[in-house]
Amino acid sequence: MATAVELDKRSGTIRDMFGAVAPRYDLLNRVLSASLDIVWRRKAAEALTLADPAPVLDLCCGTGDQALALRKRGAEVVAADFCVPMLALAEKKYQRLDERRPRGLAGDAMTLPFADQLFGAATVAFGLRNVADLDAALVEIHRVLRPGGETAFLEFTVPETPVLRAPYLFYFRTVLPWIGRRLSKRGSAYSYLPDSVLQFPQRQVFLERMEAAGFTDVACRNLSGGIVNLYTGRRA
Ligand SMILES: C[S@@+](CC[C@H](N)C(=O)[O-])C[C@H]1O[C@@H](n2cnc3c(N)ncnc32)[C@H](O)[C@@H]1O
Repeated sequence: MATAVELDKRSGTIRDMFGAVAPRYDLLNRVLSASLDIVWRRKAAEALTLADPAPVLDLCCGTGDQALALRKRGAEVVAADFCVPMLALAEKKYQRLDERRPRGLAGDAMTLPFADQLFGAATVAFGLRNVADLDAALVEIHRVLRPGGETAFLEFTVPETPVLRAPYLFYFRTVLPWIGRRLSKRGSAYSYLPDSVLQFPQRQVFLERMEAAGFTDVACRNLSGGIVNLYTGRRA
C-alpha cells in the first residue's frame, strides 16, 4: 500500500521553494493547465458580488494573476504573499497598469498584517494548500473581513468520476512532475505539488474547516470536471 509522503510545510521551506520556481511560475502554470488557470481565476473573481466597495484581499497572491482578475472586475485590490521574488514579479505586471493598480504587500497568511474587518472580500488561488496551518489562515482571513465579507478560494481536487480520476492521477503523479523537472530549476516543487494536493482536505471536508473558522453559507463547485474546486463562503 502506498504511504503518504511527509510534506515539509515550514514557512522557510515553502518560501524558498516558491522563490526558486518564481521565474518560470507563469510559464509552468500555462503549460501544465493548458491555460485553464486563466479561466479558473476569472471564475473565482466572478464568484464575488463585490457589493461592498471596501478593498479586496488576494492572499498568497504569487505573481499577481488573481489580483489582476479581480481588478478587471473593478475591485481595489491588496495582494499579499510571503515570498518576495513572487511579489516582485507581480509588481512588474502592476506597473504596466495606469490606474487602480493592485497594491502588493509582504505578509504571512497565518498572521496577517491587517486590522480587523478591513476587506469587503478575500480570495486565495492555489495558496491555502501550502500554508503550514490551514485553520490559522482561515481564522485570519475571517478576522480581516467585514461583516458579510465574501470569500472565493481555488484549490486543486481529485475528480470524483472514475473515468476522469485514473487519467488525472496518472497525469498528476507522472506527467506533471516530469514536465516540471524539465522546465523549472526546482523540479522537486512539481513533485511536491501532487503530494500536497492529495493530502489536502477536499470538498465537504474543506467546507467543514471553513465553517469551523466562522464562515457561513459555504459551498463548493467543481471546475473542469472536478480537477479544481471553487469554495465560497462569507463572514456572517
Ligand atoms: C501555488 S502559488 C499560487 C499563487 C497565485 N495565487 C496563483 O494563483 O498563481 C502559492 C503561493 O502561496 C504563497 N504562500 C504559501 N504559504 C504562504 C503563507 N503562509 N503566507 C503567505 N503566502 C504564502 C507562496 O509564496 C506562493 O506564492
